Amino acid sequence: MSKSKPQLEGEVYYPSNEVVEQARLKDWDEMAEKARKDPQAFWAAEAEELEWFKKWDQVLDDSKKPFFKWFVGAKTNIVHNAIDRHLKTYRKNKLALVWESEDGKTERTFSYFLLNREVSRMANIIKAMGVNKGDRVTIYMGRIPEIAFAMLACAKIGAIHSVVFGGFSVDALQGRIDDSQSKLVITCDGAFQNGKIVELKRTVDEAVKRCPSVENVIVVKRVGHEVPMEVSRDHWYHDLCALPIANGKCATEVMDAEDPLYILYTSGSTGRPKAILHTHGGYMVGTYTTLKYVFDINDEDRYWCAADPGWVTGHSYIVYGPMLNGATSFMSEAGPSYPYPNRIWQQVERYGIRILYMAPTAIRGLMRFGEAWPNKHDLSSLRLLGSVGEPINPEAWKWYYRVIGKEKCPIMDTWWQTETGMFMITPTPTVPLKPGSGTRPFFGQEAEVLDEAGKPVADDTEGYLVLKNPWPAMLRTIYGDPDRYVNQYWSKYPGKYLTGDSAKRDRDGYFWIIGRADDVIKVSGHRLGTAEIESALVSHHAVAEAAAIGLPHEVKGQAIHTFVLLRSGFEASPELAEELRQHVATHMGPIARPEDVKFVDKLPKTRSGKIMRRVLKARAQGLPEGDVSTLDE
Ligand code: WTA
Repeated sequence: MSKSKPQLEGEVYYPSNEVVEQARLKDWDEMAEKARKDPQAFWAAEAEELEWFKKWDQVLDDSKKPFFKWFVGAKTNIVHNAIDRHLKTYRKNKLALVWESEDGKTERTFSYFLLNREVSRMANIIKAMGVNKGDRVTIYMGRIPEIAFAMLACAKIGAIHSVVFGGFSVDALQGRIDDSQSKLVITCDGAFQNGKIVELKRTVDEAVKRCPSVENVIVVKRVGHEVPMEVSRDHWYHDLCALPIANGKCATEVMDAEDPLYILYTSGSTGRPKAILHTHGGYMVGTYTTLKYVFDINDEDRYWCAADPGWVTGHSYIVYGPMLNGATSFMSEAGPSYPYPNRIWQQVERYGIRILYMAPTAIRGLMRFGEAWPNKHDLSSLRLLGSVGEPINPEAWKWYYRVIGKEKCPIMDTWWQTETGMFMITPTPTVPLKPGSGTRPFFGQEAEVLDEAGKPVADDTEGYLVLKNPWPAMLRTIYGDPDRYVNQYWSKYPGKYLTGDSAKRDRDGYFWIIGRADDVIKVSGHRLGTAEIESALVSHHAVAEAAAIGLPHEVKGQAIHTFVLLRSGFEASPELAEELRQHVATHMGPIARPEDVKFVDKLPKTRSGKIMRRVLKARAQGLPEGDVSTLDE
């Protein structure tokens, strides 16, 4: 890439001739223009590349918006396209998944043929447990191949999976199992994390006590330590695999394009986490298409999305997107710097990774160890890099570009959300890049930055980011709460999708995400709601009221800071602060452990009693408090 030709403003990185030559899509503008003129025709052409048991009667039905429907009348199953169709081609023997254990001693590889066998086996088992089409299954596991098998097995038989991130703890898990009314939980005896064991099964035991909907728990053995098993409820997966019912073929259920595929809980601005619902047809077309163009997947590539399968990035771009493209994915059980800061670079070299996709927080963490660690390794296999989950600061972008990509790998900074299911603002490899900007909306999409009243703001001015067009992988609703779906996303500016982010657009039409405009905190790329953290705090007997905010953090992007009002009779002390931090970690999960706990005499509130976190945030950073006319003091 040569730097700064004068067409675009600011610091611009243009694609090299080599990048353009290699890229499947050479002319972004031409495709963008085509899709702009007729988005439905664009998406229909993409959908034609996949197999359908029955084609659609209509690409998009917007008659009941915002309850949009895509590929209306079509029949398919995402697993048919992610696995079954590959078995008829040379891809049958191609590797779908390569996995390395945390201790680096075990490698497991699965061809598409083997993947099908694993998924069919698990599908046969869960079906035999009485899980039917439309039933919910909660998956709570570590980063092992079986988490992907479990998701695919559910999809194959038409059950709806609900994956809960393994970094969450009892309360978070229980709330999500209960809300989804899952019949079955699939978990492991434990997961390895930095040499220690995370007690997944014990957490499930605690959570399930309060979840009467759960009839069975399947336990995959991973760490091999002793865990209690409840005779009629808990089953070792390896025992089930030995039963005759587990073996043999399993038919892939014929699904309506609009049938639910999964729900994934995510934090919103207020209240309980929201169960975001995705469907078989549109989500399939969206993840397939975006991954194909943005990460330019080719058959010979080895692709590594280093996210956790428990978040949406893992769903769309570890499991479904890569498999829909017949790609070879790598999965690491270990974190990027365990046991040494070169772990990730060693793996890139060892497994010949060509496309590497991770979060800015990981990049910043690795950057802190210095260049010597990556420089010890041959990273020449890399051809594309990616970033996701939070804004990437230009310093981290440039380090990633120079030290890891050796100034030859474009960085795909992909902006999207659990709700969007697929990339929404993103470059493709030949698009000129500006460090810190996800460039422009994906084909068929238009974005805008609006002021409070809904008027587009001037260039380079901050405002609310909205999306104007429906897209196939969009969430269909909040499971069990359609009113909340309408209120949350479609009410502030009727007809436009409210992202919850604040952003700017520059004169070249490039978007710059500033961060969340609501009460969502992004800690190391993990999305957490202030409401959940606060409710964990007030569940402690010493706490009367609590507020949580996110403040900038050098590596994590944002860190959780909390303000606590004690009940009378309790004294503020460093010990109590520590106890409260631990309390949140135990109840919600270690990722939600607050950076600090400050004891206060009162919290800034509106006259109607709502905590003004914005004011707390401004005060903590020594910034102006803004409009405080509603403040009750
Ligand atoms: C943020 C993760 C800047 C944003 C895929 C969004 C980003 C929220 C980027 C969704 C990016 C995601 N640049 N910010 N490339 N990608 N975000 O649902 O605030 O966990 O609203 O989905 O992450 O988080 P979620």
